[in-house]
Amino acid sequence: MENLEIKKLDGLSMDVVAENKKKLMELFPEVFTEEGIILDKLKTVFGEYVEDKDDYYNFTWNGKERALRLSQAQSTGTLRPCKEESKNWDTTQNLYIEGDNLEVLMLLRKSYHGKIKIIYIDPPYNTGKDFVYKDSYKDNLKNYLELTKQVDEEGNKWSTNSDQNGRYHTDWLNMMYARLRIARELLNKNGSIFISIDDNEVSNLKKICDEIFGEDNFVANLVWEKKFAPQNDAKWFSENHDHILCYAKSKDYLDIKLLPRTDEMNNRYKNYDNDPRGLWTSDNLLRKDEQKSGLYTITTPNGSKYDPPSGRSWRVSQEKYNEMVLDNRIWFGSEGGNVPRIKRFLSEVQDGVKSQTIWKFGDVGHNQEASQELRKLFSGESYFDTPKPVRLIERICYLSTEEGDLILDFFSGSATAAHSVLSLNSKDCKKRKFIMVQIPEKVEKIRTLSDGAFSNICDIGKERIRRAGDKLLEENKDKEGIENLDIGFKVFKLDSSNIKKWDANNQSLEDYLSYMVDNFVEGRNEEDVLYEIMLKYGIDLTAPIESRSIAGKNVYSIGFGALFVCLDMEITIDVVEGIVAYKDELEPARTSIIFRDNGFKDSTVKTNALQILRTNDIEEVMSI
Ligand SMILES: C[S@@+](CC[C@H](N)C(=O)[O-])C[C@H]1O[C@@H](n2cnc3c(N)ncnc32)[C@H](O)[C@@H]1O
Repeated sequence: MENLEIKKLDGLSMDVVAENKKKLMELFPEVFTEEGIILDKLKTVFGEYVEDKDDYYNFTWNGKERALRLSQAQSTGTLRPCKEESKNWDTTQNLYIEGDNLEVLMLLRKSYHGKIKIIYIDPPYNTGKDFVYKDSYKDNLKNYLELTKQVDEEGNKWSTNSDQNGRYHTDWLNMMYARLRIARELLNKNGSIFISIDDNEVSNLKKICDEIFGEDNFVANLVWEKKFAPQNDAKWFSENHDHILCYAKSKDYLDIKLLPRTDEMNNRYKNYDNDPRGLWTSDNLLRKDEQKSGLYTITTPNGSKYDPPSGRSWRVSQEKYNEMVLDNRIWFGSEGGNVPRIKRFLSEVQDGVKSQTIWKFGDVGHNQEASQELRKLFSGESYFDTPKPVRLIERICYLSTEEGDLILDFFSGSATAAHSVLSLNSKDCKKRKFIMVQIPEKVEKIRTLSDGAFSNICDIGKERIRRAGDKLLEENKDKEGIENLDIGFKVFKLDSSNIKKWDANNQSLEDYLSYMVDNFVEGRNEEDVLYEIMLKYGIDLTAPIESRSIAGKNVYSIGFGALFVCLDMEITIDVVEGIVAYKDELEPARTSIIFRDNGFKDSTVKTNALQILRTNDIEEVMSI
């Protein structure tokens, strides 16, 4: 009795420990190694950096710690809306964001934390010929703005990461490590990431993903057959596959769907004995090992006798076997004397098949198909060298997304992922949404189309989505519900903040006074500021925005009253009371209000306003 009690206590404490470990692993998989939890690594999660002692299993390189710090930093920039380049601005739920993806991911961190179902990325493979962005640890945003400006003014400054560079793998690892760390934060509990890569960096990528997502969350290394013809000028082997590494946010919650059964699979089912249950195929009755319950002699209808070969046994017990014979579920061949086999009915098999890890081009396309798809949309012209086939990303989305899921590609190139999402939605009428991120990398030759010029890859991506959406609508025009296909997208561009930075050390009183009068950067409009507020406040960029004039001032309601914003000056009590009435009309569960710094007419108005807001259950009042 005493022993029993001690055991119970032990069991309980073990469970708590295991539960704590599981929780910590879910939050910070990177602090676990094969030796267990590394406390120094845990410290870095909280911003305390400890010199690497290298005395535990660890993958490291020059600059890793700086990349880690960068992934924990905040962007000083914002995303500015660009309605002119968007499509269906007022109704769409899709986003196209131009900018360096590290800064963009930092900016999306709050609004999209835990909201993304899948991330697909196809980063530079680091072949020596592709552009690998060099982050600046001093001022990454400035670095980006300078780079994009240089392109306009001085021509091509977009260098490739040549394999002659002594930091060839290091540069690539630093670039990927920071981005993947933030990417993980955006995935929801049952989310996953798929990363295309080739042999050049697959081993490095696998190692950093094992660290960032946790080795236990490695799901598969899919092999995609990317070429159909052998290349005889290849030195040793004609390489015809890429890898797609898949990791789950947490494998416990991952759900990968089945692929639809093909006609070829169904054609294997026949009905040799006219069974009223329909088509069937036969399966082995023997199992590979020896189970006592499966050791018995079977006598077939024509009298032949069969025993399991040595070391093996029948799959079912004798009792179950007898039941199956009575139910006509055992097949002895047309003469009744073959080794018995189990009948498997088509009507009883799963409604689909598990995806295998080798993806053939016949099923998901190859590189040439991808280029042709893009060319077809652009009247035969080739504008982008390394697209992926629509079918490839469509399969990834099919297997791992559902109605309303959000798909992110932050190395989106020609925006194949957006095309794939639209194509899949046009087939099953679901409403998956996408976010594409792409740096405006200059294209070698500026091309002019009938309806605009392409000077960078973003121009190609946006135009592709416009054309692909229209094409899908046209191709499916007779399909019921196709009018609900969301072929639009909102364009945002990475830029410096709309709010002036106040530097108390270096600015004069005159500067201070002008800052107090107007703390918004010149040339920026209210909408720019509104979206900056949304990002900082954690509201998603497609949330509905309504505006209303109250006592002569412009008041915005974001997300049906979740946030009210008034950026006008000279705010009076009438405005404040009007906002309270607006809130009562919308009845949001919680609400907050943002005014402009010094937006109130005077300090008495400000004090009274705060009092009114407080008595009306609006506790959170902020200024910008
Ligand atoms: C291999 S391509 C992606 C192709 C894409 N999957 C498609 O089907 O068109 C990689 C893309 O990542 C972009 N890229 C590289 N560094 C970036 C960065 N820091 N931020 C955003 N995009 C970047 C490159 O400009 C390039 O277009």
